Amino acid sequence: MNRPKCCIFDLDGVIVDTVPAHFIAWKTIAAELGVPFSEAENEQLKGVSRTSSMKRILAMGGIKMEEEEVLTFTNKKNEVYRKIISKMTPHDILPGVVDFITLLKENNVLLALGTSSKNGPSILKAVGMEDVFDVAIDGTHVSHSKPDPEVFLLGAKALNVNPADCVVFEDAISGVQAALAGGMKCIGVGQPDILYQAHAVIPDMKNLDLTIFEKL
Ligand code: BG6
Ligand code: MG
Repeated sequence: MNRPKCCIFDLDGVIVDTVPAHFIAWKTIAAELGVPFSEAENEQLKGVSRTSSMKRILAMGGIKMEEEEVLTFTNKKNEVYRKIISKMTPHDILPGVVDFITLLKENNVLLALGTSSKNGPSILKAVGMEDVFDVAIDGTHVSHSKPDPEVFLLGAKALNVNPADCVVFEDAISGVQAALAGGMKCIGVGQPDILYQAHAVIPDMKNLDLTIFEKL
């Protein structure tokens, strides 16, 4: 494709380096519940909302739990997570992101954020990116978590752009699936063997230019 009208960025693992913090926080909860939890299990949770992630951990351990207790655990996970990320600064923006976003702006490509995280707004503020996106859709705006396309479709709609004119940058399997389900092109950020459903996969956000869109 030529250059898209809009690029939609996932937050965790694409714009900011919060993946290890989510992993440590979920591992703490899983350990408390006696559920084995490694990088492989964590991969399945990427992009998925907090509550859905908790339910997936319970399913992994074959554990049944009342909704109230589920809430206690998800709150606890968020406390651990927020403690780890409490000292976030612009240094936590992943390499290449600022340059690529600047290039897109110079070329009049609209920019959207599409994250499942309810911590999205505070993270954007902490890293000084609260005014960067033309629209920021986060976990507080959606009723269906990725792999449902709602978060991306809301972003496209807010900017009055057709899904086919959007390119999504995603590091999560669920996020790639959400982009595809929304009729958008998707660039996976990470490992090709994990993100093979994406239209193209890049290892990270470094050294990107507009030629990336020719691969789609
Ligand atoms: C996604 C992360 O961006 O947001 C998931 O990839 C996380 O790991 C989800 O569970 C929800 O985040 P939060 O900050 O609302 O718990
Ligand atoms: Mg992500």
